[in-house]
Amino acid sequence: MTHLYDQDKAYVLNLYNRIDVNIVNGKGSYLYDDQGHSYLDMFSGIAVNNLGHGNEAVKAAVMKQMDRYFHLSNFFPSEPVVALAKLLVENSFASKVFFSNSGTEANEAAIKLARKYGRTRQEDKTQLLSFQGSFHGRTVGGMTLTGQEKYKESFKPVLPDVTHVLFNDLQDLASKVSDKTCAFFIEMIQGEGGILEVSDAFMAELTRLSKKHDFLIIVDEIQTGLGRAGDLFAYQKFAFTPHIVTLAKSLGGGLPIGAMLVAPELESVLLAGDHGSTFGGNPVACAAGTAVMEILTSEGFLDDVKSKSMYLLKRLDEIAHAHPKIIKEVRGRGLIIGIEMYDDRANVVKAEALAKGLLLNVTRGNVIRLLPPLTISHSEIDRFLTIFESIL
Ligand SMILES: Cc1ncc(COP(=O)(O)O)c(C=O)c1O
Repeated sequence: MTHLYDQDKAYVLNLYNRIDVNIVNGKGSYLYDDQGHSYLDMFSGIAVNNLGHGNEAVKAAVMKQMDRYFHLSNFFPSEPVVALAKLLVENSFASKVFFSNSGTEANEAAIKLARKYGRTRQEDKTQLLSFQGSFHGRTVGGMTLTGQEKYKESFKPVLPDVTHVLFNDLQDLASKVSDKTCAFFIEMIQGEGGILEVSDAFMAELTRLSKKHDFLIIVDEIQTGLGRAGDLFAYQKFAFTPHIVTLAKSLGGGLPIGAMLVAPELESVLLAGDHGSTFGGNPVACAAGTAVMEILTSEGFLDDVKSKSMYLLKRLDEIAHAHPKIIKEVRGRGLIIGIEMYDDRANVVKAEALAKGLLLNVTRGNVIRLLPPLTISHSEIDRFLTIFESIL
């Protein structure tokens, strides 16, 4: 065991299953430890380091802002905050943005907006819906929306008036939705839930019901957004326009920030004093976010992600065919890809991969979740495939 690992155990609340490796540096798709080992990072800080480690443009933007000021109170408008909000508005359905510090806080803001929207229509229009198997964060609201018992059973009572719908089940949706519903929170592709994508049929029905019962569709793009699924937003593949989108993770290029993107018709629901955050929209994080957005929206960037995705998915399908007793299914799009394994093999593969300098992440117990940097090169993809196949 490394000294750092022991010290971490001694002083930091033990809430995470740490890997006993002392990372001292990161560049591009690689992390480096204090023993001189390199690791090909196939989960990018769980979809945070989407532009790889140590991105020079993000670093320059951060340094420039640090030279000006680190923090202003929200009493002042701030240039980097406005610049990032403008980029998000210009590249989405939204007309306004609220900044938070994290994904779960972006969802909390959306819960408050949805509840206020509902209650201005009728006193009991407060029901929130989300999917079973979903993940929406760790604060009380986000945890309640999360459709997995294990995240909340020890912390009850949770938020009232939250109901979970069976994944992609139109009948279950019809039986749970009513005029009392104020919002449906949805991940277009469930990340923690094992890389499962919402069906077109479900989205069409949800859109129809949202108009009929006047409730909001709130898309949680905290994991799938900002190029991860191949498009800037994963919802863009579907024929509907969200009322709200929540973002976080990769938005700050490694610095903490979250965002709630709000459609024009909703921008006056929350008023001054209704919501806020001391650090939300920190200028340094927003400067980083502006650099991230400029790269994501630069010509050819997302086409390149799509072409790498096609190559990786094709090769993984070939590998799955060659190992039908080990791999159950390969699924996903863009660079959010799940490899479902039989039995508990995913964790065995993950441990062997670490020993071979490859960082893998496992979710739902048996799904290897690939979230490589969107900037990964073809040769790095090949390196991943070679190591992965050698383990199988
Ligand atoms: C879909 C989704 N929503 C919300 C969250 C919570 O984000 P944060 O950890 O920044 O609070 C996550 C984090 O994994 C997520 O994947």
